[in-house]
Amino acid sequence: MKKIIIATKNKGKAKEFKELFAAYELDAISLNELDGIPDVEETGSTFKENAALKAEQIASMLSLPVIADDSGLMIDALDGKPGVYSARYAGEDKSDQANIDKVLTELHNVPETKRTAHFICVLAVAVPGSATTYYIGYCHGRIAHSPIGKNGFGYDPIFIPKGFQQTMAQLSPEEKNAISHRRNALKELEASLNKQDILLDR
Ligand code: IMP
Repeated sequence: MKKIIIATKNKGKAKEFKELFAAYELDAISLNELDGIPDVEETGSTFKENAALKAEQIASMLSLPVIADDSGLMIDALDGKPGVYSARYAGEDKSDQANIDKVLTELHNVPETKRTAHFICVLAVAVPGSATTYYIGYCHGRIAHSPIGKNGFGYDPIFIPKGFQQTMAQLSPEEKNAISHRRNALKELEASLNKQDILLDR
């Protein structure tokens, strides 16, 4: 199977990329499967900057084409927060539970109709010697009043996708992968995938 490198150590994302790329008969290799790759500091102030930082630094380290994802949750009643700080909203230890608690506390008095939010995923594709390209996907929905469900990762237990009554964490991996922001960004990438030299022939 051809391989493609995904610049992430996030186990939830890595699992989803494996599932999503399997449909294209590609093995998505995350940084957890490669030895000695340091963490890339996300010093950018936008999803696009952070995705580029991750993809370009790992691509130049490995001299190989690399895809990176920078993603997050944007809540309308919080002016788009947690946004680029989604992973570390409640602190640097990046605890999903602490992040969820913080969001629910901040939305404590916010009524149903004002709890709208969306996930965003920006994919950066870095190919050594070429300009980085970007693909964006969204998933719209609203924030629940309490966490429910065991699947997925991050804010999934409090995110109810549009058209559903359950949280993302109550959906099966297949159901989430059919509607997620990551899926939608990948659809954008799909169109150009065949034209780009980003697949490893091994
Ligand atoms: P990143 O590694 O800086 O892109 O962090 C992304 C953060 O956004 C994750 O740690 C989660 O908190 C959140 N996030 C991104 N995608 C999802 C998702 O599919 N479900 C739930 N939370 C997500």
